[in-house]
Amino acid sequence: MSLRVALRSLGQRACSLCVSHVTSQGGVASRTPATACVLVRQFHEDFLHRKKNMDKPTVLITGSLGQLGQGLAKLLRGKYGQYNVIMSDIIKAPDHILETGPYVYADILDFKNLQEIVVNYRVDWVVHFSALLSAIGEQNVPLAMRVNVEGLHNILELSNQYGIKLFVPSTIGAFGPDSPRNPTPDLTIQRPRTIYGVSKYYHERFGLDFRSLRFPGIISSDTNPGGGTTDYAVAIFHEALKHGHYQCYLEPDTMLPMMYIEDCLRSISEFMELPNDQLKMRTYNIQAMSFTPRILEDIVKRYIPHFTMTYKPDGRQAIADTWPMVFDDSNARRDWNWRHQYDTERLCQVMFEALVPKYRGRFVGIMKFR
Ligand SMILES: NC(=O)c1ccc[n+]([C@@H]2O[C@H](COP(=O)([O-])OP(=O)(O)OC[C@H]3O[C@@H](n4cnc5c(N)ncnc54)[C@H](O)[C@@H]3O)[C@@H](O)[C@H]2O)c1
Repeated sequence: MSLRVALRSLGQRACSLCVSHVTSQGGVASRTPATACVLVRQFHEDFLHRKKNMDKPTVLITGSLGQLGQGLAKLLRGKYGQYNVIMSDIIKAPDHILETGPYVYADILDFKNLQEIVVNYRVDWVVHFSALLSAIGEQNVPLAMRVNVEGLHNILELSNQYGIKLFVPSTIGAFGPDSPRNPTPDLTIQRPRTIYGVSKYYHERFGLDFRSLRFPGIISSDTNPGGGTTDYAVAIFHEALKHGHYQCYLEPDTMLPMMYIEDCLRSISEFMELPNDQLKMRTYNIQAMSFTPRILEDIVKRYIPHFTMTYKPDGRQAIADTWPMVFDDSNARRDWNWRHQYDTERLCQVMFEALVPKYRGRFVGIMKFR
């Protein structure tokens, strides 16, 4: 009897975890949140004892279907094992995610839901990615307050209660117009102006093993950015390949720090594995490159000579004007040997290498890719 038939006879459906298990065995099942699954306890026990790497941490990633979560899950599953990394979010996961390991529904505003997951999966680390980013947050401040502040509070409380090692990303947006902008040191006046920045400005750590990195804008080719002020640096590559043109929402000379996703994900993994005594601080700036839209435009033109770019600043310009231009990450470099591997030239190269095959059909005979 298939799992689905067995569950139907009990008036139940399978949770997403059972679905990934069943589909990976070549079966089929329907989906419902973990709490409704009759097999959940038995299955999790089985899963914990037989599948997990017991000498590696079990990591829960919140907001894992966003720009950073999918890549980090892949990286950590490669290091710790497929079943040691629990992906979670409030949106439906596509099949390719369900097939690669456990995925559960987790709303960071629902504390009991989080407790249940931590207990059922015996979570050791939480990587907290759920958030509303800067541009989206400004459009809906009350919701950003709930997700970014109340949600973070839940995660801190959860980590405190269960002795969890916690990683929370911060951002250039945690600084404001009163902060020195070039370079911006780790310890300086902050006074962020956006709700996103306010929610990313951490004062208290409650004695937890709390670790945070302040990231620049993150650039990736396989996932879409989530409504931040640095999104242009991803959109430009897609638009250049699709239409040979991009209209930028920032002024040409707006300099912001940026980082390629591989550097970002590696930094989290390296930082989380450091022994406590190596950390002189709990929150570090990390930097890879800084550029302006004009600099990026010039490099893109070297790949696509007919590429044109126009500039029509919108509300995001005012946000960018208050943010650091260059991050001083000398403390991270000194304390735990942080090194980036991608500069602006290499970034453009990998973005085109990844995206040209995707858009090739549109540009046959037009684009000179080198
Ligand atoms: N991407 C960047 O450039 C960048 C730079 C600096 C810091 N960060 C930080 O890194 C983290 C991840 O960024 P990202 O770019 O992947 O974000 P994203 O917007 O792409 O993804 C965030 C995810 O959070 C989920 N989410 C929203 N509300 C939720 C809720 N109530 N409960 C659970 N999940 C919820 C969304 O469904 C989404 O999948 C964020 O905290 C962000 O502030 C990102």
